[in-house]
Amino acid sequence: MSYQTEYDHSMKDPAGFWRKQAEALEWFKFPEQILSLDKDGLGYWFADGEMNTAYMALDHHVKAGRGNQLALIYDSPVTNFKSHYTYTELTDMVARTAGMLANLGVVKGDRVIIYMPMIPESVIAMLAVARLGAIHSVVFGGFAPPELAVRIDDAKPKVIMTASCGIEVKRVVEYKPLVDHAIELAQHKPQSCIVYQRPQAAATLVAGRDHDWKSLLAKAKAVGCTPVKGSDPLYILYTSGTTGKPKGVLRENGGHAVALKYSMKAIYNVEPGDMYWACSDVGWVVGHSYIVYGPLLHGCTTIVYEGKPVMTPDAGALWRVCAEYGVKALFTAPTAFRAVKKEDPQAELMKKYDLSKLQVIYSAGERLDPPTQAWLTEQSGKPVVDHWWQTETGWAITANMQGVEPMPIKPGSSTVPVPGFNVRILDENGQQVPAGTQGYIALKLPLPPSCLNHVWGDENKFRESYLTFLPGHYTSGDGGYIDEDGYVFVMGRVDDVINVAGHRLSTGEIEEVIATHPAVAECAVIARDDDLKGQVPMGLVVLKSGMTIAETDVQQQLIARIRESIGAITCYKDTVVLARLPKTRSGKTLRKTLANIVNGKEYMVPSTIDDPGVIPEIIEVLRTKKLVK
Ligand code: COA
Ligand code: AMP
Repeated sequence: MSYQTEYDHSMKDPAGFWRKQAEALEWFKFPEQILSLDKDGLGYWFADGEMNTAYMALDHHVKAGRGNQLALIYDSPVTNFKSHYTYTELTDMVARTAGMLANLGVVKGDRVIIYMPMIPESVIAMLAVARLGAIHSVVFGGFAPPELAVRIDDAKPKVIMTASCGIEVKRVVEYKPLVDHAIELAQHKPQSCIVYQRPQAAATLVAGRDHDWKSLLAKAKAVGCTPVKGSDPLYILYTSGTTGKPKGVLRENGGHAVALKYSMKAIYNVEPGDMYWACSDVGWVVGHSYIVYGPLLHGCTTIVYEGKPVMTPDAGALWRVCAEYGVKALFTAPTAFRAVKKEDPQAELMKKYDLSKLQVIYSAGERLDPPTQAWLTEQSGKPVVDHWWQTETGWAITANMQGVEPMPIKPGSSTVPVPGFNVRILDENGQQVPAGTQGYIALKLPLPPSCLNHVWGDENKFRESYLTFLPGHYTSGDGGYIDEDGYVFVMGRVDDVINVAGHRLSTGEIEEVIATHPAVAECAVIARDDDLKGQVPMGLVVLKSGMTIAETDVQQQLIARIRESIGAITCYKDTVVLARLPKTRSGKTLRKTLANIVNGKEYMVPSTIDDPGVIPEIIEVLRTKKLVK
């Protein structure tokens, strides 16, 4: 089938198109309501279907004769350990882990926070929560206690599941003190905390609240799957918005399962039984969709990799794993490829491995820059496919659909809209712009299955954040253009969100932390282009008058504060002290102008600027520090 036929079908008859995709899954009761629209044109999918996502991802395959096939491989170069689970073993383990949670009173609709490293127990925990019809909220292990506390207060979990530690290349990160601190900071107190003790660090348990995972599991009995409706929530995943407070994206069971199952063949061209590897972390949406749910819903084998693309032990790590397990589809972020390219420019380490089973390399998380794409294509001899998506959608909005019709690759483009997504480039008045003209990337409603319909605990937030600016459309927050061949080019965020090593961060949130420093009067955080991480944050700060503190001291203190408040993944290093910030007459800081100056790009000084003299003043400071030419 051609891409165009598939896409046109999804646009002309969305309900028919997605009903057909839904038939690929085993429902307890097949939905009658495929698509229901509300007054704003927002789509709700499979609302009355009865199902359980963990059942579809595990029990179904055992019943269908896939029980002895590997479901999950754990490969941990940081601990020198490998293990695996067949579908039967994983199903049993998930059923007992669900029993362990049920013994602590977890029932349908309860929230469970999972703050874990990349070990199989993280995946097991997610599926166990899903098995009970409860709602998981995985918090990336690199977030600091205050970030975890915000999520505890918002999601109000009955239970927190954690491990004694995570392992970074050069250090063991003890998780339990971080969890204890977060619970101390939070208003909401979870009833229980389950701790998976790892040999690299022993966690101290708080009597009455904390439980040892393995002892609790030993006493637990396997439980069955609780039926849920297609519209019932599967998980909450927090993501950075333009304000300091993260948004809890709510994912519904039905649409999510259908979209991910469809994507495995249509986008990634894998079959049940194939080896699929998303080198990411379960704390991010890529990890949710393509380490856990997508591959398992499709009957593939997934890989839980506890390591980095470089340093564990070298820049051949990606290729070693692909060769060792016969990976057919590899998916990671451009920053990982850039790190490999930096360490091994001639790809000598790649050549050591047999990559004959690897068919296509997929990239997302940030725009795949053309030089990295060219290097990887040349070195690997494989198609290198960029695809664009967001936490909010849970799967790709634009892609080069390898299982439908592979299309010519255009460097810098994530190719064409995925069936179901009506992608438009609009100006600020909501008018479509001509081909090749940049604008706001918007998605015409209704959105296809899996996309968010709610922000957890704040019904207005969803509509305000995404639906108000361009009526009738979902505003993606990204800007870009569509060329005359219909290829979409996503050029970057048009809001105050930045992307550091494929991780989405809010400049507003970093600014809030900087503002707590006693010497700081005001600040602006901007994204500085970075060869490895894509972008890194930079703080431009104005000190309170009379402050004599040295710039290097402010810098060190801000680094420490941001690591403690948000986490090391912020990669915050640079602080520049300025006499004043450029502002409009209404007091809005000109962050975009500042970012363009710092990144050596053409910049505009708006006519509304309060005092144009501030710009040359700032350029001079940056020049003295050799931050601009
Ligand atoms: N727990 C605790 N700390 C963590 C962590 C975790 N789960 N993950 C990262 N960190 C820390 C790191 O130790 C590092 O701390 P440091 O400043 O003290 O060294 C900091 O956060 C930054 O981490 P990272 O961005 O991973 O940088 P790095 O220099 O260690 O590695 C790359 C660079 C390119 C190898 C790495 O960014 C990478 O693998 N990126 C892939 C991106 C990815 O998976 N994105 C997900 C979306 S698809
Ligand atoms: P997250 O929700 O963390 O997955 O981040 C989503 C954001 O990452 C998007 O809004 C984009 O800004 C950026 N992004 C992800 N994938 C791509 C891509 N392939 N091309 C360009 N930007 C991307």
